[in-house]
Amino acid sequence: AHPDPCCFVIFGASGDLTRRLLLPALYNLAASDLMPERFALVGVARGEDTDDSFRARLEEALREFSTRPLTRKTVARILKNVSYVQADPEQEGSFERLKAHIEKVETDVGTGGNRIFYLATPPSGFAPIVTALGQAGLVKQSRDAWRRVIVEKPFGTDLESARKLNESLLEILQEDQIFRMDHYLGKETVQNIMILRFANGLFEPLWNRNHIDHVQITVAETVDVGRRGKFYDATGALRDMVPNHMFQLLSLVAMEAPARFDAPAVRAAKAEVLQAISQYTPAEAMKNSVRAAYEGGVVRGQKVTAYRETPDVLADSATETYVALKLMVDTWRWAGVPFYLRTGKALGARKSEVAIKFKEAPFSMFRNTPVDRLAQNFLVLGIQPDETIKLHFNAKAPGPELEIGGVDMTFRYDDFFDAAPTTGYETLIYDCMAGDGMLFQRADAVEAGWAAVEPFQKAWAKANDRDGGKDLATYPAGTDGPEEADKLISRDGRAWRPLL
Ligand code: BG6
Repeated sequence: AHPDPCCFVIFGASGDLTRRLLLPALYNLAASDLMPERFALVGVARGEDTDDSFRARLEEALREFSTRPLTRKTVARILKNVSYVQADPEQEGSFERLKAHIEKVETDVGTGGNRIFYLATPPSGFAPIVTALGQAGLVKQSRDAWRRVIVEKPFGTDLESARKLNESLLEILQEDQIFRMDHYLGKETVQNIMILRFANGLFEPLWNRNHIDHVQITVAETVDVGRRGKFYDATGALRDMVPNHMFQLLSLVAMEAPARFDAPAVRAAKAEVLQAISQYTPAEAMKNSVRAAYEGGVVRGQKVTAYRETPDVLADSATETYVALKLMVDTWRWAGVPFYLRTGKALGARKSEVAIKFKEAPFSMFRNTPVDRLAQNFLVLGIQPDETIKLHFNAKAPGPELEIGGVDMTFRYDDFFDAAPTTGYETLIYDCMAGDGMLFQRADAVEAGWAAVEPFQKAWAKANDRDGGKDLATYPAGTDGPEEADKLISRDGRAWRPLL
């Protein structure tokens, strides 16, 4: 269905996100006939530009980054009502001019006053822009016209800053006007976790502490920090990946079944899981975490220099490019079931997956194969680049002698569904246009995510003060991470699934 007519205002319109993802995503929506019939795009940034040159830049971006072949008709449809406004919340009168511009566009195009403001700016812009929008009267809703704001990542840098940001936004906006983005929720394989669990009768009866031994969540990247030194050195792997992307995976795997498939019920169930993550003492936080930075090495045939030699990274930086955690979720369903998480940059393979390890057979009646030599029962949800679901189990090898071996039953998305490549932003933008917040983060869930990582942030900061962060381990670029991460899990008699 076509969403309501609307005016789509992008702050940070000259940035990379707009070029690489937003424009190609809008294009794909138009190509699938899922755009509003009346639609205007207003680009906002600090620099000067004209409508024509902005439109030309967008067209160029489409040529460079579109995920599908362009047709002239669809390009024309997206770029028909494009305009550019220079605005800056620090500048007197700037948002009044923006308001006048938007109102004129709305009359010309007939978008009926519905507006989306997409904050594709650095995070320091979020609160000032929303405050300025509020002061200019641009986000007040009426019965006939909705006003929504999409906020990109990162949402804060710790619990306190996230709370403050929520407070600033909620001074101006209602919660249901705020769409906090986590692009992992735009991935089909991530959305499918809920379908796998709740559209099948098969898995859910086993999905608890009685049958599950532990859960492993891996987001391994081959990319190194490269030119993002400035941002990354102030951020690190924990903040960059855990309270957001990895906790999306964790909450979808661990949530209770919501009573309804709608935003309030699903978001409540997800928030509850995050709120149930054990709060460690500083000593427990140190014991249950490993942080590390990469040394020089070779990743997929390319030489990578050590993290600390990256431009804009401090030579004695204590920032981690890898983190492994052992978390406990204190609920009836999960008590005693560890969740092991690991993520890192410059690793030897790109692989994101959730692996659920089931308990083993209570004993083995096969004398030549004791329980510890049977294959482990894993259900592995491949998120990327392998979009698969695999079940690993035991089977009899052919032959007169009884030999048992591990085999895989594999479902590949590609084999069943024939989907055009996307940017991953299409569903999220479409849902925002349709007013469906299910795939966006509610304030309390964001805060619960930060609260769950706070013990690690605090314990590491203390360790940095104490001894300069001696616990910070290293790993050669191109490997599967630091040995310390293997110990984190092997001391429990378990092992990571191989990465390489
Ligand atoms: C971003 C992080 O949010 O997610 C990046 O800032 C990371 O550091 C990226 O590389 C990973 O996203 P994806 O979709 O490539 O897994």
